Amino acid sequence: MDIHNPTYVSGHGLLKHRSVLITAAAGAGIGFAAAKKCVEEGCRAIVISDIHDGRLQESVKKLQEETGLEQVYGKVCNVADEEQVQALIAFAEDKLAGTDVLINNAGLGTTKALIEMEDPEWMKVIDVTLNGTMRMTRHMMKVMKTRYESGKGGGVIVNNASVLGWRAQKEQSHYAAAKAGVMALTRCAALEAAEFGVRINAVSPSLAVHPMLKKSAPPELLAELEGKEAYGRGAEVWEVANIMVFLASDYSSYLTGEIISCSSQRS
Ligand SMILES: NC(=O)c1ccc[n+]([C@@H]2O[C@H](COP(=O)([O-])OP(=O)(O)OC[C@H]3O[C@@H](n4cnc5c(N)ncnc54)[C@H](O)[C@@H]3O)[C@@H](O)[C@H]2O)c1
Repeated sequence: MDIHNPTYVSGHGLLKHRSVLITAAAGAGIGFAAAKKCVEEGCRAIVISDIHDGRLQESVKKLQEETGLEQVYGKVCNVADEEQVQALIAFAEDKLAGTDVLINNAGLGTTKALIEMEDPEWMKVIDVTLNGTMRMTRHMMKVMKTRYESGKGGGVIVNNASVLGWRAQKEQSHYAAAKAGVMALTRCAALEAAEFGVRINAVSPSLAVHPMLKKSAPPELLAELEGKEAYGRGAEVWEVANIMVFLASDYSSYLTGEIISCSSQRS
């Protein structure tokens, strides 16, 4: 493997017989890449979700076509909406006949200096990124606890954080605060969930470049961030997805409440 020009890693059956639910999976980024990886790793059925209906239906089709798995289901969900979150989890339980793995990928950012920040912008980023992850985790923990108590095993939850939960960057106070919250949530919820056989971990990417990001982020900022990486490049989205799959699989059985960085940047 050339670290500067990585080769796509094909599946090894790490999620064989498992079912997966993933949020924010209809974009061009980590979410869809993670959904594809889970299927390539042998999951038996998957529910992908997103706030955007049109792209979600296209993504269901694309995933079916690219992987050959028929058991791909789509359900619209804004993770900032409590009712939609509950409906999504009920849908997944029904379609998947029990959810083994939940991947909380949804997260939202903007670029704004703190002294210019208005409450609505701050609240929106926190509500999608931190509260959305909390809502999904809370309800899935209840479902997985009931399943564990009926003798059918626990489950796994993988959150998507960001290195900004650890590091400082100008104009990212809201997003960084939300991601630091996701990290704290992961650690604390993991302690509670261990009592009923559920592991909760998070991946913490620094930069994963994809077409939407290239469109929305200033090119000079992207170049600066890539320049900070030891590899001189951002991660491929599937490189982040690989870590999610590891955290979802039994290879990380003795790991919970952990945040794994996906970064070649060292300070
Ligand atoms: N790309 C990066 O460099 C990077 C770095 C660190 C962390 N992350 C985190 O990774 C995750 C995925 O980001 P990505 O950039 O790879 O894009 P992505 O394509 O995986 O996710 C974007 C998708 O999120 C959906 N979405 C937006 N708001 C939503 C909501 N309220 N409810 C449900 N879905 C919603 C969008 O419709 C879009 O399809 C996010 O949590 C992000 O904060 C990304």
